[in-house]
Amino acid sequence: MKWYSISVFMIFALFQSLSAAPAVSLSGTVTKSGGGAVKDVTVTLAGVGGISATTDASGKFTLDNGLTSIMPSAQTQPLTFHLNGKELFIQSAEKELSGTVSIYSSEGKRVSSVDFKQTNGASGAILLPALSAGLNLLKITTNGRTYTGPLLQLPNQSARLQGTSSTSMSNQLGLFRSTAAMADAIVDTLITKKSGFTDKRTPISSYISSNLSITMDSIVMATCNATTLKAAGSCRSNHQILLGTALPASNLPALAAQEFNFVTPENEMKWDAVEGSEGNFSFGSADNIVSWAQQNNMKIKGHCLVWHNQLPSWVSSITTRDRLLAVMKKHIETVMGHFGSKLAAWDVVNESISTDSDVGTGNAQMRPSVFYKLLGEDFIPTAFKYARDYADSHNMQSMKLYYNDYSIDADNDKSRFLHTKIKQWLAAGAPIDGIGFQMHIGPPNNIPTVQSVKDNMDYYTSLGLDVLISEWDINLCGSKVTSAQQLEFFHGITSVCVNNPKCTAITFWGVNDGNSWLNGFSGSLCNGSSSQSLLFNNGQKKPTYTEVLNGLNGK
Ligand code: XIL
Repeated sequence: MKWYSISVFMIFALFQSLSAAPAVSLSGTVTKSGGGAVKDVTVTLAGVGGISATTDASGKFTLDNGLTSIMPSAQTQPLTFHLNGKELFIQSAEKELSGTVSIYSSEGKRVSSVDFKQTNGASGAILLPALSAGLNLLKITTNGRTYTGPLLQLPNQSARLQGTSSTSMSNQLGLFRSTAAMADAIVDTLITKKSGFTDKRTPISSYISSNLSITMDSIVMATCNATTLKAAGSCRSNHQILLGTALPASNLPALAAQEFNFVTPENEMKWDAVEGSEGNFSFGSADNIVSWAQQNNMKIKGHCLVWHNQLPSWVSSITTRDRLLAVMKKHIETVMGHFGSKLAAWDVVNESISTDSDVGTGNAQMRPSVFYKLLGEDFIPTAFKYARDYADSHNMQSMKLYYNDYSIDADNDKSRFLHTKIKQWLAAGAPIDGIGFQMHIGPPNNIPTVQSVKDNMDYYTSLGLDVLISEWDINLCGSKVTSAQQLEFFHGITSVCVNNPKCTAITFWGVNDGNSWLNGFSGSLCNGSSSQSLLFNNGQKKPTYTEVLNGLNGK
């Protein structure tokens, strides 16, 4: 076990420095984009109640809850503490050890208390209860001595209880992070608010940091009175949102051109449609959509270059790495080359992560597609590199390249797994410009909350990526989502995009309810009936339309 290898160091560190350390001590400076300090910004944490700070004239703040780790003096025998999930182990040189372990919320309320007794200085597991997300305080009273210190739980991850930062173990009662926590080290969200500015939510990986640098975006939330979706999305000069719809070549209604300025071909650019047999490319119906969109001044996103579905069997039956790499490269280059800069963006990789269920829970892993099986997860950075190199060397430097997936729009196993992977792929140089949240809400996919969509969007944009809502529909079949909830989601999530300057597009997966893919998709619980999942029915605007329009107008 890794733990033993550092416990020696920990004991040493405890003898070295038993001084008090703050539970929360965050300081830094807030500036606005383009430079300049921002005064009177309120700084709070999402997971820790009861503390806030305000920036001074030079934009500086200190957020400190005055709570300190307390150790008995260095002369008494130290304890070491180890957390494994929710199990706390206490070790001591003393033979008899008994006492109480209590958990306090960050506001000082006692949440729970567990008595323990042990012999031979070796501890059995003391089971800690589920805690509220964010920072909690641990207090251990044993053999007449009291130890207190910070203890935190990663948001919505009840199974992962952590000691705080491993970098200053001497101050942390000997608790430290597990390897799993290291991989995805976000512990909380620092919120900076100032009226006239878009709130900034910054993921933080430690409660102790002295030189945070935060840039606020100078967006004044304009209220607009636009009367079409595309006009509402363009009503703020400093944050333009493209409004899109998926369309099949067989049905290109005038209504789509009135309301939308962005198009995704629903099926016509998928691998089976453009390269059904090896090297025989056919672009007829895709070209029809492209020329229709161009005539109507609409931008176009290509969908999609590398995906396990709608993939011809001549590709899925390839058995060697070199051949698949060559085939993938040729496909990407030929398809991108055909449409060239008529397209503004491409979904380069679609749906490369799987879980036990489509709602994104359980056993998140790389999907065992032919691409993953033969090329490993490297197929993703590689596909992006092929696409970027081709675009840049063919005068398409402004082409945006996206990773697109379902059930990644809010907190769940799949989105957490993707967070970690995207960070790794970016670090390895994958030229990813943005993430498409398909946002198929309801059966067969997940049902998020507005707040978790916001937090998740903030996560990606704080990595410097754009985000898009790329295939939005909200399915009422199966009564998993009520129509009231549907309206709330359409308004709330639209507002989330409006409030995040790096949310660049919202695309609905179809115009009219009657044409929704969900109506005939197994798993949607529709069985042929209408999913009622879109903004129009037979060309008429629905209440869902009004919610989205109001959200875009900042109302
Ligand atoms: C769907 C189309 O809408 C259907 O017409 C087709 O039969 C199956 O694919 N995620 C995606 C889209 O990325 O390409 C899918 O589109 C819907 C789910």
